[in-house]
Amino acid sequence: MRRLIRHNGDPMADPIVTVAELLLPAFAAVGGEGADPVVRPSDRADAQANGALAIAKRLGQNPRQVAEAVLAVAKPMLDTICSNVEIAGPGFLNLTFADHFLAEQLGLAAADEHLGVRLAPVTKRVVIDYSAPNVAKEMHVGHLRTTVIGDALVRLMTYVGHTVIRENHIGDWGTPFGMLIEHLVDLGETEAADGLSLGDLDGFYREARAKFDADPVMQDRARHRVVLLQSGDPETMRLWHLLVEQSTKHFNAVYAKLGVLLTDDDIAGESMYNALLPEVIERLQTAGLLVESDGADVVFPPGFTNREGDPLPLIAQKRGGGFNYSTSDLACVIDRVERVHGDLLLYVVGAPQAQHFAMVFKVAEMAGWLHPPTEAVHVMFGSVLGPNRKMLKSRSGEPLKFIELIDEAVVRAAASVAEKNPHLSADEQAEIAIVIGIGAVKYADLSTDRIKDYIFDWDRMLAFDGNTAPYLQYAHARICSIFRRAEIDRASVRNDAVVLGEPQERALAKRLLAFDSAVWDTIDKYSPHRLCTYLFDLAQDFTAFYEHCPVLKAADDATKQSRLVLCDTTARVLAQGLDLLGIVAPERM
Ligand code: ARG
Repeated sequence: MRRLIRHNGDPMADPIVTVAELLLPAFAAVGGEGADPVVRPSDRADAQANGALAIAKRLGQNPRQVAEAVLAVAKPMLDTICSNVEIAGPGFLNLTFADHFLAEQLGLAAADEHLGVRLAPVTKRVVIDYSAPNVAKEMHVGHLRTTVIGDALVRLMTYVGHTVIRENHIGDWGTPFGMLIEHLVDLGETEAADGLSLGDLDGFYREARAKFDADPVMQDRARHRVVLLQSGDPETMRLWHLLVEQSTKHFNAVYAKLGVLLTDDDIAGESMYNALLPEVIERLQTAGLLVESDGADVVFPPGFTNREGDPLPLIAQKRGGGFNYSTSDLACVIDRVERVHGDLLLYVVGAPQAQHFAMVFKVAEMAGWLHPPTEAVHVMFGSVLGPNRKMLKSRSGEPLKFIELIDEAVVRAAASVAEKNPHLSADEQAEIAIVIGIGAVKYADLSTDRIKDYIFDWDRMLAFDGNTAPYLQYAHARICSIFRRAEIDRASVRNDAVVLGEPQERALAKRLLAFDSAVWDTIDKYSPHRLCTYLFDLAQDFTAFYEHCPVLKAADDATKQSRLVLCDTTARVLAQGLDLLGIVAPERM
């Protein structure tokens, strides 16, 4: 059998991608260089190529004749991988893959550590800005999406071979720190540190704010302290560090519980850009972009207006000389491009900051700091809502604390594990409850289109049926148990031959081979829900296969071995797919 080698030297990909690449020369021959075959999976056949329509339109020809001309060129090649090729409708090419071709491709994917997923043709340095909680404030449900989506993007980009630089742009600078430091001084350092280390950051913040609001003396002290902080006074910096350290300890505890990759080394808070701020102003000035408006130094990027239709300024330096969030994000662009040498800058931040980032990126382009091929993208997302469609609150009416949310997920999962797996040891049950509970929260978030809001629903996310993490984790564990009970080493089947006979085998094989496209589609759109949908479809295809096709009791040895390859590859794709989403797939549950 012929081994297909893709033109970039990679041995395989989703057959849909492979056939599109193989059709390129034929489409180019009839439609000119770069004519796109437009191949999609199809229910009628396996794949449909629609490219003839666009070519015919452009050349003023009959689309069916264009399709025929393509076919005349491509037929010899298509005959090696297709069992049937026909022209349908206004000029579609309907392609049915030969069973031997799918079987061979699946064999290659099964023998591949990377499960047939293509590596990036060009390796980029991808900077991913995510999580970004604020110092002296607890992480709450508002940080869930950025943390979970950002971490999935880190894993996906790394998987296809990019170099990923994680950056946690924590809010660790600005005027509130004057009041926070003075409150720390009042409490006494050790006392304050002890209190903060218990994780009650919000309590500390509230006390400081109450004192500040009520007491003019405190306001003066806070203002003076901000000046000291801005000028780098050593004693003030030491106190500031104490606050930052206690807060990052709390963030790290959350990350550890959640299995998020961020560490202290990834912290690149607002304070880091402080020294660069005067330079931002200088460079904007030199570029001739700064305009004075109401005593502030601003830039007017074209295309931004307020409700009245007046041009909207990006304030670079406030009246009185202070800098703000925008100034620090401008510095941040310079840093990520010029020091970190990022090619692709992703900002995983909520949709309410859309205008902020659009303006910052525009000004950075105008100033010449950001230019192609370097690209900055605001990967925005909607909100997590409570059952009343309002911001999710805790019983006390505050935004639900992140740590409480995680703990509750595990407690709830433990109840269902105890019910479903009473035979497992208490330790095992506890371990599984953690991966199910945390997996459920992450998956519920990732499986919704990130642009949309979603309603946080414990029962739905923890259900063992439907598009949920427990359903996928369970599908994986069930396959593991087939091998365990039959005492077959999973790795031992990975080079066995695949034969496809039953339609359910064929459907499962095609789905497994589409893992490549699912990963790339997810990456191209920065949209983890696409991978979730794929994994859910895969689990369903597996169920259909398993119901119709006996594995251990297959009619003959060759069929049994082939079906074991399908089982093992399904489990690997499920586990790998979940891992890319930051979710653990246990072998038993
Ligand atoms: N700390 C900010 C907030 O809570 C998010 C920071 C996002 N990153 C950035 N480069 N601005 O809103």
